[in-house]
Amino acid sequence: MTTLQNKTALVTGASRGIGRATALALADAGAHILVHYGRSKQEAESLVAAIQAKGGRADAISADLGTPDGASSLTKQVRSIIGDRLDVLVLNAGISKLARIEDHTIEDFDNLFATNVRGPFFVVQQLLPVLGEGSNIVVISSAVAHTVVGKPGLENPSILAYAATKGALETLVKNWAAILGPGGIRVNAVAPGVIDTDMSNFTKTEVGREAALGMQALKRLGKPEDVADVVAFAASDAARWITGASIPVDGGSKL
Ligand SMILES: NC(=O)c1ccc[n+]([C@@H]2O[C@H](COP(=O)([O-])OP(=O)(O)OC[C@H]3O[C@@H](n4cnc5c(N)ncnc54)[C@H](OP(=O)(O)O)[C@@H]3O)[C@@H](O)[C@H]2O)c1
Repeated sequence: MTTLQNKTALVTGASRGIGRATALALADAGAHILVHYGRSKQEAESLVAAIQAKGGRADAISADLGTPDGASSLTKQVRSIIGDRLDVLVLNAGISKLARIEDHTIEDFDNLFATNVRGPFFVVQQLLPVLGEGSNIVVISSAVAHTVVGKPGLENPSILAYAATKGALETLVKNWAAILGPGGIRVNAVAPGVIDTDMSNFTKTEVGREAALGMQALKRLGKPEDVADVVAFAASDAARWITGASIPVDGGSKL
């Protein structure tokens, strides 16, 4: 598949999990990949090496998107590598927090919104000059933007603040799609259910695994590649008439 031949793509949080699988899928489609990472330098560099070993192009860049200057640091590095044209922007980097309502701290809340919402907001703002007709943005949202998961209850841990960041992102997706559409730029969300990564380590226990499978019509755990293939589709010209959408990739969760 070479649908992204001669295109440039930035994937945030590409060192691990869904971002890593997405970077590989976009590289397989022919794109030159900017592999963004926060702390996982070694993982990011091994991904760049893996893409290059297959004949692809990739560069690693680092920025902490939870800090106020993270977005500008990232976008400066991106522009110095790709020049004046970014074809695909995948906003994937994110953090989560599982705790009872009363155990969520102000610091947790601020970290979640800084990393998951403020970072992407300013990355898009600062990359506008290099996005043009035919470029597109894919935001990794979550099924929890649309539905409550887990067992609701004051004594039960919940990801409600994290879920709110994904709701905010999906609102931004619609606004970005409306604002950027006349310039020929598409913006979509991909909303995974439970995916087997470091973030969802509760699936490593039998109870957690059963809880995840209990929500789904399809009875296996979702894999990063299940999401990556849909991102690659959304980023390609095959999705040219889709914008402002949120595509569920959740094995039929909470039907
Ligand atoms: N796993 C799921 O079940 C699931 C379900 C729905 C949606 N999602 C969403 O999918 C996306 C990827 O999740 P994942 O499961 O692949 O998570 P993961 O395995 O924990 O990977 C998270 C990625 O985000 C990066 N990141 C986190 N904080 C960062 C920061 N402050 N600055 C820069 N990079 C940062 C990490 O980079 P470093 O390691 O280099 O710091 C890592 O590459 C997230 O937006 C998540 O909300 C996940």
